[in-house]
This record gives sequence, structure tokens and C-alpha cells, in this order.
Amino acid sequence: MSWPDRPSGPDQRLVGDRVVLRAPVEADVEPLATIVVEPGIARWWQPEGIDAMRESLLQPEDDTQPWVIEHDGRVVGYIQSWEEPDPEFRHAGIDLFLTTSVQGQGLGPDAIRTLARHLFEDHGHHRLTIDPAAANATAIAAYTKVGFRPVGTLRRYQRLADGTWIDGLLMELLVEELRP
Ligand SMILES: CC(C)(COP(=O)(O)OP(=O)(O)OC[C@H]1O[C@@H](n2cnc3c(N)ncnc32)[C@H](O)[C@@H]1OP(=O)(O)O)[C@@H](O)C(=O)NCCC(=O)NCCS
Repeated sequence: MSWPDRPSGPDQRLVGDRVVLRAPVEADVEPLATIVVEPGIARWWQPEGIDAMRESLLQPEDDTQPWVIEHDGRVVGYIQSWEEPDPEFRHAGIDLFLTTSVQGQGLGPDAIRTLARHLFEDHGHHRLTIDPAAANATAIAAYTKVGFRPVGTLRRYQRLADGTWIDGLLMELLVEELRP
């Protein structure tokens, strides 16, 4: 079986209800490196230095696609998808963060829905996963709104900046479960 070609290009924009996802450019490196160290984000997302952020944005791994999240023309966060290419287990995963000042307004679910639609419709995926920390109630609530369902606990799954290992929650979304 062959998979749809990756249609994403440097000019591609994915338009949601309130956010726009676009390909990163050099000018995004500093704002996103500043956002990712905000305490409410660094608690859950391993902080990246500016060089690591540049690499994530501009030289991502082959199976990873980074997007800048814009709201009202302003950079407010980052979302990425990664793909498991093995045909037997083909699926994609999503990770994201939003700057603290815009959290709690539904922009995260809008960004996830927008990227999920792209992964289902343009890349032919049938299943997406997301793996928040089991204690990250905000993230779990946001992902549940989009239609993700809990699969189970990933024990001592993620290492935090302080070196401790914390549990994760594996969640999944099948194509017919995406909520508008
Ligand atoms: C997780 C995240 C992407 C969710 O996006 P979001 O736009 O904030 O999601 P929502 O607006 O749907 O908020 C989710 C829930 O948390 C609550 N919430 C989130 N931020 C809040 C805040 N600052 N104050 C009060 N409540 C808040 C919302 O009320 C909502 O509850 P509800 O479902 O009962 O309405 C975003 O909060 C974020 O980037 N957090 C920090 C980084 C992170 O945890 N990333 C995920 C790693 S897996």
C-alpha cells in the first residue's frame, strides 16, 4: 500500500476557527524559545535552548513536522506532528504548547483539531495519539474535548527537567471520533 504524498510545504497554512498553523521561520526561534521556558510550560515540556529550538523548528527529524500557532497575527505557541511510518502500525502523534496568557481559551483544542484534520484528510491517517503527563489535567481536558480517549497509564514515562520520572497517559483518537 502506498501512502498519500506529504503535501505540506513552506507556504502551507492550516486555518482553524481561531488559530492559523504555519511553517516555522527563523524569526519564530526566539519567541518560541522564550515561551517554552514559561514556568507553566517548562513544568511539562523539557525546556529547549535557543539552538535546540532552532533545530526543532527549521531542521526537524524526517518524521516530524513543526508548526507555529498564530492567533490574531501573533505567535502564541507551537504544535508538531510525528508519524510512525511502519505500514503495519502507521499512525501519527501530536504535541503542543501555548503561551500562558492564551491558555484556557480553547485555542489548544482548535489547533489540535486543525492539525488532526490535516493528518486525517491530507496524510490519510486513521489514528492519532497524544501522551500528556498523567497529572496534566489541563492538557487531558483539552484533548478530551477534541475526542481523544484515554488508553492507559504509561508508567515512569517522562523525565522532567529535575530528573524525576513521571507517569504519562496514552490517549488516542480514531478518524471518526474527531469532534467539531
Ligand atoms: C495543554 C494546552 C495545550 C491546552 O490548550 P488550552 O487552549 O489551554 O486548552 P483549553 O482552553 O481547552 O483548556 C483546558 C481546560 O483547562 C482549563 N484551563 C486551562 N488553562 C487555564 C488557566 N490558565 N486558568 C484556568 N483554567 C485553565 C480550561 O478551563 C479548560 O477546562 P474545561 O475543559 O473545563 O473548560 C495548554 O494549556 C498548554 O500549552 N499548556 C502548557 C504546556 C502543556 O501542558 N502542553 C501539553 C504537553 S502534553
